[in-house]
Amino acid sequence: MKKTPYSDPTMAAVYNRVATPLQFAPPAKDLVEMLQLQIGDTVLDVGTGTGAVALAAMPALGSTGFVVGVDAAIEMLAFARRSAGYPVAVAQIPELPYRDRTFDVVTASFVITHVPDYGRGLSELVRICRIGGRVGMTAWGSLPNPGAQLWSDIASQYVPRKQLDNAFRAQIPWDEWFSQPANIRQALEDAGMATVTIQTRQYHVRMSSTDFLSAREASVQGIVLRQELNDDGWDQFRHRVRDAFRNRFGESVEYDRDVHFGTGVRSAC
Ligand SMILES: C[S@@+](CC[C@H](N)C(=O)[O-])C[C@H]1O[C@@H](n2cnc3c(N)ncnc32)[C@H](O)[C@@H]1O
Repeated sequence: MKKTPYSDPTMAAVYNRVATPLQFAPPAKDLVEMLQLQIGDTVLDVGTGTGAVALAAMPALGSTGFVVGVDAAIEMLAFARRSAGYPVAVAQIPELPYRDRTFDVVTASFVITHVPDYGRGLSELVRICRIGGRVGMTAWGSLPNPGAQLWSDIASQYVPRKQLDNAFRAQIPWDEWFSQPANIRQALEDAGMATVTIQTRQYHVRMSSTDFLSAREASVQGIVLRQELNDDGWDQFRHRVRDAFRNRFGESVEYDRDVHFGTGVRSAC
């Protein structure tokens, strides 16, 4: 199993406490609504993380349906088990341990951007979805995030920006590409989905500056920066970034993020 930043226990804990409720739960709820889950549906949530999509899906499935979650990082699944209590397993796209046409619905929220061969990844989601079943994915759009920009500007005075960007791209190679809705449509159609629908929604995010900085420290770039700096350098960076955030944003950071949703029905061939 590929080691990812999500396998870092600190990152998983911050993701669960800050990112899941404030950034990932609102689009998860919308993705579930768009997929029109029915009572009795069987759902596989791929890259389930700490459980945002599964938690949103469960109420729609009744006592006869269920959701299963898989993720590459057991550290994330530990939180998913605790918060939502659904069955989870460690597994990685593009090799999922399920027979063809197993599930009524397959979801992958903010995951496909991480998969080096996204085409194979999407084909795998389609393979395990029954004919006539639904597949849904999400990806971030390209609205600017001023807090992340300020953090990166300061970080790049400690570690070359290129190194931070390369570390990010090594983990999430398709972030920029999937920020274009036309690319999501193309990728889903190429993977064998029919009647593909693309929607974009915007979300207002507000979090304390302290939480925002914790989330940044637990991000891919934060982990790289920590590895590159000695203790003094890291302390100095943290003080600087804290002062800069206090001056620019005060106690809380607010911004809008756009999310693209791609949903489709599995065609017969
Ligand atoms: C940004 S998080 C999204 C988590 C969750 N879907 C949500 O909306 O909160 C990405 C998740 O995908 C997982 N992941 C990354 N690459 C994966 C792969 N190839 N197969 C399965 N999971 C993967 C990570 O471990 C992480 O939990």
